[in-house]
Amino acid sequence: MAARSIEELQKRYASLGKTLGDRRGPGGPGGPRRGPRPKGKPANSRATVHRLLGYIGAHWFRLSFVLLCMLCSTVASMVGTYLLRDVYNVLILPQGGEVSAHTKSILLKIFMPDLVANATPTVEQRLGCLGIILSVLAVIYLIGIVSTYLQGRLMIAVSQNAVEKIRNDLFKKLQKLPVRYFDSHPTGELMSRFTNDVDAIDMMINSTVTSLISGAISLVGTVFMMFYTSWFLALITLLFIPLYLFGGGLIAKRSAKYHVAQQAALGAVNGYIEETVTGSKVVKVFNHESVCVEEFEALNNDMRDKQFKAQFYGGVMGPIMHNLSNLAFALTAGVGGLLCILAGFDVGGLTIFCTYSRQFSFPINNLSMQMSTVFSALAGAERVFSVMDEAPETPDAPDAIPLEDVKGDVVLEDVSFGYIPGQTVLRHVNLYAHAGQKIAFVGSTGAGKTTVTNLLNRFYDIDEGTITIDGVDIRSYKRDDLRENIAMVLQDTHLFTGTIMENIRYGRPDATDEEVIEAAKTASAHSFIMRLEHGYRTVLEGDGANLSQGQRQLLNIARAAISKAPILVLDEATSSVDTRTERHIERGMDRLMKNRTTFVIAHRLSTVRNANAIMVLEKGEIIERGNHDQLLALKGRYYELYTGKKELD
Ligand SMILES: Nc1ncnc2c1ncn2[C@@H]1O[C@H](COP(=O)(O)OP(=O)(O)OP(=O)(O)O)[C@@H](O)[C@H]1O
Ligand SMILES: [Mg+2]
Repeated sequence: MAARSIEELQKRYASLGKTLGDRRGPGGPGGPRRGPRPKGKPANSRATVHRLLGYIGAHWFRLSFVLLCMLCSTVASMVGTYLLRDVYNVLILPQGGEVSAHTKSILLKIFMPDLVANATPTVEQRLGCLGIILSVLAVIYLIGIVSTYLQGRLMIAVSQNAVEKIRNDLFKKLQKLPVRYFDSHPTGELMSRFTNDVDAIDMMINSTVTSLISGAISLVGTVFMMFYTSWFLALITLLFIPLYLFGGGLIAKRSAKYHVAQQAALGAVNGYIEETVTGSKVVKVFNHESVCVEEFEALNNDMRDKQFKAQFYGGVMGPIMHNLSNLAFALTAGVGGLLCILAGFDVGGLTIFCTYSRQFSFPINNLSMQMSTVFSALAGAERVFSVMDEAPETPDAPDAIPLEDVKGDVVLEDVSFGYIPGQTVLRHVNLYAHAGQKIAFVGSTGAGKTTVTNLLNRFYDIDEGTITIDGVDIRSYKRDDLRENIAMVLQDTHLFTGTIMENIRYGRPDATDEEVIEAAKTASAHSFIMRLEHGYRTVLEGDGANLSQGQRQLLNIARAAISKAPILVLDEATSSVDTRTERHIERGMDRLMKNRTTFVIAHRLSTVRNANAIMVLEKGEIIERGNHDQLLALKGRYYELYTGKKELD
């Protein structure tokens, strides 16, 4: 197979879900429909920021301490700088010169009243002044250091708690999403939202939010101090603000766009990696390594391009702002120098003004340096929130009734269903399963057998008709109750990381060890488990990779067997098990199925011979029904399937 084009790969691994989701409406039938939005543009940054703030704001108590600490450190820095004015004015004075009238420090007024205004300080006085101011500065800067440290620590706590909550909310939402959602979203792409996107948010909360708040406080403080020091120079500095805003805004717009693309490309790369790792054996069997490498390189290359653009525009902002602030600095220093010469402005005043001017541009520079982080985080947050905003499984009706003491009468009346609107998979299916009966579905691949069982436990809701259990529409029951009363062995086996004991107990968490062993015996799994070195304590990893496919199926059967659900669905439960073991299981299951309504799907027709009724499904319709003997006598489709007398299509 030739490698697919980058457009196709992108579509498959990143936007496949989006396109399908948009077409069908995220919540399936009844779910809110959202139109597709132009690709690569942040949907609504303001709303995203608002939601993020909600997560951060929940920690308002800690945040108020953070704010206090920031105030302390900003005030310390402002005051510290201001005190230096006196140091410059008193120390850099030529021998015999007078102290400038601008020397306004309260400290000096208290400790060295003679020095204030037009006095000529001696060397001792100068050193004394230095000593006093340095001691006070030491205390002030110590306060600054402690409050900065506390602010950092508290902010880490805020960001970690906020991100933990985001991850929890996302995971909770994932558990509530309908099966339909997972049909159309590659696993790796979803994983990417948990890892890369959440990490990007974490980075932003941790670094940018701190910079933003402390930057804002520092800006207000510096502007105040600048005006206090020299209103004229302050006005010159402020002239640059429109330039900062214009330049920043221009770049920010482009940057945001590329960051959205970057996060999507990252999702696509992760989706591809996930798929090739899970399917690594198939890749090797068909010698697709080189195609995989080629396709991966294409995706990776695309990601590099998008990351380059995102980071370029994110990164270019810092230097531009830096240079603008240098320009502002040079201008104020020049004009300040002229003021010193022509208008008697003090050197100390000019020096500290230059420091303030640096402090003024610092938060602007700092924030513009972090634009990449901000845009990645916003793009990430948007992807995270888009999952959170997906419509969950249709909620239970307010008057939903609990499903208790189920007899197990299951009736499907004129049921029609399609996964995608307009493509009907099941057509007018009618079925009456009396409590305790065993109903079998047979038919060719893709006929719709699994689909029928998917509808019973409401993985999907039907489009037309009704399904009732004990005479009540299943949509009227509480969904959890419904699923608790239907045990299933799915066609795709799945085992979780954990011991065999835990995996079987998944079917009924309160089951005792003895009951687990009993279930394993029913499923004919006991003997192979006992042959394992650690028996029931054997730890399964990677979906039971250390077991054979048949053994995995046996454990899946045991998991359903331990459940006391009155309705049992076995979808190709023994397709990978040898016929002798299958007969064993059948005997065990027959005991289990007594008094339970059972739906069995099997291609190996010998396993359904004893069913009360066999439904032959073809292209979503039941074309024959009856017991084994009746269907054989009919010499129709079942006869063909059973005897193989006619070639299957
Ligand atoms: N999640 C899905 N999204 C869209 N279409 C689907 C989905 N699952 C199944 N289909 C379609 O529905 C039809 C019936 O599928 P179903 O899984 O019920 O077949 P089946 O009879 O169980 O086949 P098999 O014997 O291979 O298990 C198929 O044509 C399939 O393409
Ligand atoms: Mg199937």
